[in-house]
Amino acid sequence: MSLCRCLFLLAFIAATSGVNPGVNVRLTAKGLEYGRQLGMAGIQQKLRTIKIPDMSGKDRVRFIGKVKWRVSNMRMVSVGLPKSAVTPVPGTGIRMSISNAYLRVQGNWRVKVLRIIRKSGSFDLSVSGLSMSPTLAIKSDGTGRPAVSTVNCAANIGSTSVKLRGGPRWLFSLFKKKINSAVQRAMQKQICPLVAKALSGVNPQLKTLNVVAKVDKHAEIEYSMVSSPTVSTSSIDLSLKGEFYNIGKHQEPPFRPVAFSLPPQTKNMMYVGMSAFTFNSAGFVYHRAGVLSLNITDDMIPRSSPVRLNTRTLGSFIPEIARRFPGLLVKMTVKTSKTPTVTFLPNNMTVEAAGTVSAFAVHSNNTLSPLFVLNLDTSVSAKMFVSGVKLAGSVTLNRMSLTLQRSNVGEFQVTLLNSILQMVLRVVVIPQVNVQLQKGYPLPSLGKMRLVNTELQVLKDYMMIGTDVQFTG
Ligand SMILES: *[C@@H]1O[C@H](CO)[C@@H](O)[C@H](O)[C@H]1NC(C)=O
Ligand SMILES: *[C@@H]1O[C@H](CO)[C@@H](O)[C@H](O)[C@H]1NC(C)=O
Ligand SMILES: *[C@@H]1O[C@H](CO)[C@@H](O)[C@H](O)[C@H]1NC(C)=O
Repeated sequence: MSLCRCLFLLAFIAATSGVNPGVNVRLTAKGLEYGRQLGMAGIQQKLRTIKIPDMSGKDRVRFIGKVKWRVSNMRMVSVGLPKSAVTPVPGTGIRMSISNAYLRVQGNWRVKVLRIIRKSGSFDLSVSGLSMSPTLAIKSDGTGRPAVSTVNCAANIGSTSVKLRGGPRWLFSLFKKKINSAVQRAMQKQICPLVAKALSGVNPQLKTLNVVAKVDKHAEIEYSMVSSPTVSTSSIDLSLKGEFYNIGKHQEPPFRPVAFSLPPQTKNMMYVGMSAFTFNSAGFVYHRAGVLSLNITDDMIPRSSPVRLNTRTLGSFIPEIARRFPGLLVKMTVKTSKTPTVTFLPNNMTVEAAGTVSAFAVHSNNTLSPLFVLNLDTSVSAKMFVSGVKLAGSVTLNRMSLTLQRSNVGEFQVTLLNSILQMVLRVVVIPQVNVQLQKGYPLPSLGKMRLVNTELQVLKDYMMIGTDVQFTG
């Protein structure tokens, strides 16, 4: 096999064996348009720094004789970029087209003729019909963040005109060419590097992508890019890892993201698709950390409830409890027995969690007597919402079912405990879960980014957040 074919094969393997992203981010034409506005402001600022060197010389002018001249203090007084567009170029990046741009330069002139006549004044020079079309390539930098570079740029200077103030007519013909060519030279040399500099000014912003964002004391979420951005004719797609990890030593869950792609959307600037994998990786981390557990005692049950967590209430269903442990409080420990799983169906986000409920009688000296252990299967409906640059949520109970795992209080019919457990889930467990869910976790974001006009949709296998963005400061 030739080296070339071998390299091609390696590249092919590298490209296809890449992991699927847990999160897909799409920048739409509307997003690029917002980027264009920010980019233009940067370019305009940079073009104002074009420097034109002073010039001087000696010439022999017909009928006048030897003339010494000097042109100095040339400076940009205005830069106009009235027309520009950005177009994604599939496979390459983004092409910016700037046309009809104009610049105004002011400067001073001075001449000496035959060492006796001295004259000086100012001039205006305008450049119009300036056009350029720099192309931006977007790649992943070493840290999994996007980075842009200007891959080609050609500036085309339309026409220039000079207006001299305070000079005799013959001066005009002497200077016009000289000033013109000096300005054209300076521009040819400086425009593209300045535009490249302005455009690479977004890199410090891109470096603020939260590739590892802390969620809480147990977990962080990783948003590094898993492959280079994909540019299509209407959008730019970024594939991010979107995986929760325990803080410290990362461990991969026994499941992988399933490939998914966002449907065509144009309304918002940005779409973020968050797959079931991302949520499941969170479940994996929290379940393994052992934090999906809760001790429930009678003082957590509202005063108004007739059902109490004591041996009298439980004893009315399981007589042995009343007989062996009269007049004691009961404590229940609810915890997950495996990683909860999230399922996304259109307009339906459901979490299934399997766990155990262990009940204990609490003696006055605080020792615990185990009563029974139940297997608990629950299904909850989840609603997510965007709060700041975080995704938060809340759940409500759909259904639960109980089976007996073991009993220290004889055989009993588990379904008798359904209503107590339903009450415990509704008034204690779910509200506590919701307190945690409402804290939310960070979405991928850049610097001081604000999300506005946010919409959330649940689709098959993922959730999609459509949003506009605003950068402040
Ligand atoms: C629940 O109680 C047990 C002992 O009674 C304790 O070991 C455990 O840490 C408690 N769990 C929580 C979440 O408070
Ligand atoms: C949502 O989907 C689950 C299955 O994942 C199903 O059991 C439940 O009935 C659905 N809920 C609604 C409101 O359609
Ligand atoms: C606590 O009280 C129970 C019941 O009264 C008793 O069986 C147990 O031995 C006591 N435990 C301790 C450590 O005192």
